[in-house]
Amino acid sequence: MDILDVIKKEHREVAAMLDEAEKCEPGDKRLIELARQIEQALTTHVKIEERLFYARLRDRAEQDEQRVDVYEAYTEHDVANHLIELLKSGRKPDEKFKAELQVLGESVKHHVKEEESTVFSIAREFIDQDERDELGEKWMKARQRMESQPTKNGSSPAPRKRAVVKSSR
Ligand SMILES: [Fe+2]
Repeated sequence: MDILDVIKKEHREVAAMLDEAEKCEPGDKRLIELARQIEQALTTHVKIEERLFYARLRDRAEQDEQRVDVYEAYTEHDVANHLIELLKSGRKPDEKFKAELQVLGESVKHHVKEEESTVFSIAREFIDQDERDELGEKWMKARQRMESQPTKNGSSPAPRKRAVVKSSR
């Protein structure tokens, strides 16, 4: 499967969860479960994507502008990771929690839109179809490996290197 199709499929799955979260009222316990699922899906996605996809594009892109686009995508991942950190560790699903989840949703949707247009067109230029298929296979294997890794809390995939982020507002 073409890596671009794998990425698109995962984008749709996360978008569906973000849409559902947006419809929940503050206080709804479902928000906690959705935030956990979104966190797991995004953490895995971002890790594999940077390793298998962005690194290649960054190294191969020929124009400065294309490299800026790839770095922009990396930076948007950093923003998403920051918001994900805010949602972790047993918070109440209150108004503030919902607001943060909503901002995560908005920024992820913006990122997906740019990635599927700008970044994908860079990928089509510098990664041929055979390699894209190969990378799609690698992606699915990497995800299986990460999902089956036992972790301390038993369920979530191995956490990404944690930034020290505290919500102070
Ligand atoms: Fe991405």
